[in-house]
Amino acid sequence: MLVLGIESSCDETGVALVDASGGGVPVLLGDALHSQIDMHQAYGGVVPELASRDHIRRVLPLISQVMAQGQRSLAEVDVIAYTRGPGLAGALLVGAGVACSLAAALGKPAMGVHHLEGHLLSPFLSADAPAFPFVALLVSGGHTQLMRVDGVGSYEVLGETIDDAAGEAFDKSAKLLGLPYPGGPALARLAQQGDGQAFKLPRPLLHSGDLDFSFSGLKTAVLTQAKKLGEPMDAQARADLAASTQAAIVEVLVKKSVKALEQTGMKRLVVAGGVGANALLRSELNTACGKKGMRVHYPELSLCTDNGAMIALAAGMRLQAGLEAPQRGYTFDVKPRWSLAEIS
Ligand code: KG4
Ligand code: ZN
Repeated sequence: MLVLGIESSCDETGVALVDASGGGVPVLLGDALHSQIDMHQAYGGVVPELASRDHIRRVLPLISQVMAQGQRSLAEVDVIAYTRGPGLAGALLVGAGVACSLAAALGKPAMGVHHLEGHLLSPFLSADAPAFPFVALLVSGGHTQLMRVDGVGSYEVLGETIDDAAGEAFDKSAKLLGLPYPGGPALARLAQQGDGQAFKLPRPLLHSGDLDFSFSGLKTAVLTQAKKLGEPMDAQARADLAASTQAAIVEVLVKKSVKALEQTGMKRLVVAGGVGANALLRSELNTACGKKGMRVHYPELSLCTDNGAMIALAAGMRLQAGLEAPQRGYTFDVKPRWSLAEIS
């Protein structure tokens, strides 16, 4: 069974083709991505209308590219999957519209996929794939959640952010330090030259007793420090503040993840979403979990941020699990706000 997946929820147009025949993990046959980072950089963040228009320009050439890579024809595709939500409404509509029209033209079913389920399952495409059950730490630009995952489609939210997401904390702090969008990778790079102990920044909700997160207070503390340092900011102080910010975000994520593993009695942690690419987060999680005999699984670095492969994969795994009977109705809607708990 061939599944074509289309991702267009934010600033990346991703298309991929997987073979979900048999019972094993779907096999990735082709994967192509266009990132809009360069286009949005001039504005310091994603401009939704520009994002939608660019998805329109990119999606069909990317589909051709993926079919050529996989050496398959569109007539051989069995299901066309697309990101139904959450994300930017206009951007989602492009992927949904293209997927459903292509499906109608080919006489094949279309299927909407939850973006976060894609992130959650993306480590199954890595060489070191996890096994169910596990705890998942979902850390993206829009979401920070700890989930209990017992199988495909069985997700329980254990804790989540009550304000900013971890990626947002990286991005907003980076902006305060004068770094370009997207701030996460830029802040992580600058932090390499800084001392993470230099500034005492808050670790919100670290001892709250639950598994929830809060990052907006940290952003305010970074703003206060940045103002104290003034402009132009000393280069070393800027690097130290970047490193201290990263250290604060990472410490909270690591401690709460370990706590979630202890509470559920699970031995496996899966990290997914853009912030999962952060090197300090990876090394600190490996150390903390290693000490307790727990394993951490990550998606391939290229599949941490948004991509089409995770959407094709999630669709394939849901079909294999018998959770979906794709329809040929071709009416579609998108869900810009959509909790993962709703599909469990
Ligand atoms: O999952 P993703 O591509 O998009 C959403 O679904 O939101 O995540 C993007 C987020 C951004 O906030 C970006 O700054 C952050 O992931 N990010 C990082 C790193 N790479 C991407 N944050 C920290 N360190 C990184 N290396
Ligand atoms: Zn994402």
